[in-house]
Amino acid sequence: MGNAKLEFPKGFLWGVATASYQIEGAWKEDGKGENIWDRFSHTSGNVQDGDTGDVACDHYHRFRDDVALMKELGFKAYRFSIAWPRVLPSGRGKINELGVQFYSDLVDELLAAGIEPWVTLYHWDLPQALEDEGGWAVRGSVDAFLEYTDAITRALGDRVKNWITFNEPWVSAFLGYEHGVHAPGRKDLQAAVAAAHHLLLAHGKAVPVIRKNVPNAKVGITLNLTPQVPASQSFSDRMAATWADGYNNRFFLDPLVGRGYPQDMVRSFGSDMSFVLPGDMDTIAVSTDFLGVNFYTRGVIRDTKTTQNLPAEVVAGPQFTEMGWEVHPEALYNLLCRLHFEHGFKNIYITENGAAFDDKLIDGHVEDTLRVDFLQRHFAMAHKAINAGVGLRGYFVWSLMDNFEWAYGYSKRFGIVYVDYQTQKRIPKHSAHWYGKVVARNGLD
Ligand code: FCB
Repeated sequence: MGNAKLEFPKGFLWGVATASYQIEGAWKEDGKGENIWDRFSHTSGNVQDGDTGDVACDHYHRFRDDVALMKELGFKAYRFSIAWPRVLPSGRGKINELGVQFYSDLVDELLAAGIEPWVTLYHWDLPQALEDEGGWAVRGSVDAFLEYTDAITRALGDRVKNWITFNEPWVSAFLGYEHGVHAPGRKDLQAAVAAAHHLLLAHGKAVPVIRKNVPNAKVGITLNLTPQVPASQSFSDRMAATWADGYNNRFFLDPLVGRGYPQDMVRSFGSDMSFVLPGDMDTIAVSTDFLGVNFYTRGVIRDTKTTQNLPAEVVAGPQFTEMGWEVHPEALYNLLCRLHFEHGFKNIYITENGAAFDDKLIDGHVEDTLRVDFLQRHFAMAHKAINAGVGLRGYFVWSLMDNFEWAYGYSKRFGIVYVDYQTQKRIPKHSAHWYGKVVARNGLD
């Protein structure tokens, strides 16, 4: 193997990613408790076409086939998330052994297939019972998360070494509690800021719990980071881009590296931050083994409140995905350099990158050349960042298979494997075979 034109460092980890609610289905099987996405998707008007995760990809019953498929395609690592309400149906208290057994079996199946398990503890499916107590907006959720973390790391820690505490706390806090477009569907900025803090605090407190239960653990957190560039050099556009960077990126990055919350954002939110208790910021700045980065696009920012703007010098385009997200691989390079050289993250994994395109199943094949092109260009930028000295250690493609894309339901296909939702048949797209070759060669031709 090897000898690729763009060869990655030896041991570079190539994987694929999914999340529990998006693929598992079996929403009330084997003792699983209700989660906020069950409640949200069962409430009409929240998800496109009234879609729900009740069945999703039926992965709960088909996981052995899905693991076999990953093995066949040659993927080396699998990032998946654990549904907290399968383990603790009410969020805390009594453990549901059948739920734990499911993940234990999945882990065994992966290890037997030679695939490294990477577990995300929280990918948005909060037990509804905890939301009923105030959810992430209240501090009680932090203790419940620690109880859950302790239980599941005790159960799997002998076999799973790679742990991600949270997936994209920005999305949980702001899409869930400020904009209300994700579960739990609240529209309260103050609750969202408190949620952001409690998510970060739960991360900080969970890290030592994981280390205690898992010998040789590698622990990190995954952020969705979106570089924000001003559309012009006007003062107002630059200020708007600084704000967008604070909102999406700095509000999470800065506390993790011990810089506290950015004061421009605290002022802009108008929050009294009274939920930050003494010691919290040190807890959040706990040292970790890696940073997980989910990268999809960049933002081109225009101050829409002024008419005094200069003409735009930066214009988004020319290519966009089905999500309406601009395809801009160079932003990945810039982001990785910033994380390494400005924030000091020495071990970085891209825990998600991928794209939704309008895939067509024709004669049993999906020729998703746009996705191959997308991935190829992003891999090349990752390679360039490594050459510049960035400690990028691995790359997970989002997603193994088409799945429930949150508020968009099943209308957006991110998979490198196509899912026929009528028959649950999995059909590897052209990109899946192509990616398998990249993994085998550890690089691009
Ligand atoms: C990320 C999520 C993931 C998926 C992709 C497209 O924000 O972590 O679950 O929905 O976007």
